[in-house]
Amino acid sequence: MKILVLGSGAREHAIILALLSEEAGHEILAAPGNAGIGRDATLVDLDANDPAAVTSFANAENVNLVVIGPEAPLVAGVADTVRAHGIPVFGPGKAAAQLEGSKAFAKRIMEAAGVPTGRALRARTRAEVEAAIDELGSPYVVKADGLAAGKGVIVTDDRASALAHADTYLPSGPVLVEEFLSGPEVSLFFLSDGDRVLPLSPAQDFKRLGDGDSGPNTGGMGAYSPLPWLLERFGGEDAFVDLVTREVAEPVIRQLDAEGTPFIGLLYAGLILTDTGVKVIEFNARFGDPETQVVLPRLVDPLSELLLAAASGHLEDRARPAFADAVAVTVVLASEGYPSSPLTGRPLAGLDAAASVEGVHLAHAATALEGDHLVATGGRVLNVVGLGTTFAEARERTYRALGHIELAGGQFRTDIAARVVEH
Ligand code: AMP
Ligand code: GLY
Repeated sequence: MKILVLGSGAREHAIILALLSEEAGHEILAAPGNAGIGRDATLVDLDANDPAAVTSFANAENVNLVVIGPEAPLVAGVADTVRAHGIPVFGPGKAAAQLEGSKAFAKRIMEAAGVPTGRALRARTRAEVEAAIDELGSPYVVKADGLAAGKGVIVTDDRASALAHADTYLPSGPVLVEEFLSGPEVSLFFLSDGDRVLPLSPAQDFKRLGDGDSGPNTGGMGAYSPLPWLLERFGGEDAFVDLVTREVAEPVIRQLDAEGTPFIGLLYAGLILTDTGVKVIEFNARFGDPETQVVLPRLVDPLSELLLAAASGHLEDRARPAFADAVAVTVVLASEGYPSSPLTGRPLAGLDAAASVEGVHLAHAATALEGDHLVATGGRVLNVVGLGTTFAEARERTYRALGHIELAGGQFRTDIAARVVEH
């Protein structure tokens, strides 16, 4: 197949590596991509957020499938235009992507579909914020109601910090004040053709910048999959996945369809396993980053077939995707200053040595070639991904490989998947 992948992160690199691992001779085009993606696919100079440009390119090149990685093209309506021209596209239209783009929309859909989630109050003014945080109590959870790349949320015991966070977002619109949910977090992905869903294997993401979940929220600093501790809580991964499919994914997809905004693409359920049941903290309308980097290397079924079946409304013909027993760990290498103000342009070295560690591969995010050497061009620079038969093995390989990489001021967490090794 000829497949166009939109986006430039490690998630898109992971998608491309999974497509290439099928050894089906796919031709992969990527826009805009990055230096790592450029080694594996053909980079095309195309504005991924421009619906008309993407559509005319896909038409002219006879692309068989467009895969949209990040949220920005979804919210810009790229999927709508491509789909309207009869080209299969994996990614929801603008209206259904509001599930991610607007937290208030997501809460309304969940309420209508009877999906378990925390209480949330919408506040438009300083006074409404104060009333809401006092009603829901500490720890305080305050969220911007739009796309904020993981930075729009604060979870804090400090009332003044919660209010200050609200003040930064209030001028541009309402904020949500949420009930604090306590328990382990799980990310679970579903492929949807607008009507049916197929679950992938769960992963855990590490959202805070520092070890021990300290520091600010980020886009995600590491992940692992599968989650062996689901055994004690639910009797196993399948039982957990069945529960979330039935109580979360199916009702949400049905509700969106009933409202005339069918969701075709990847439904990302961000869940907290509370003492009173599984609750949704957020939905995303795309694959998670970095969870994708640990989920897709374990996928046994050909990814291209699953994405095409979802994009063309034929998931009913497909069995639930199978996953290898191998475990996967990924650690993000980020630039100095990430997430608030990453310093960019610094040279990167040691990548070949890192990738030569057994069971390890790299997924590039913010990398570019300057002449013949690599530089870091953004906050999250790359992912080291390690596979193994045990978490101890996968983790040891990942960190050994990371030890070969040189980036001045580079930051990474040292405790990704540490607790699951002890499990
Ligand atoms: P979000 O952008 O909604 O995914 O939130 C980012 C992170 O903030 C989540 O992954 C959680 O770790 C934390 N968080 C968000 N909402 C809540 C909540 N209601 N209770 C506890 N933690 C939350
Ligand atoms: N890893 C969190 C996200 O993709 O939103």
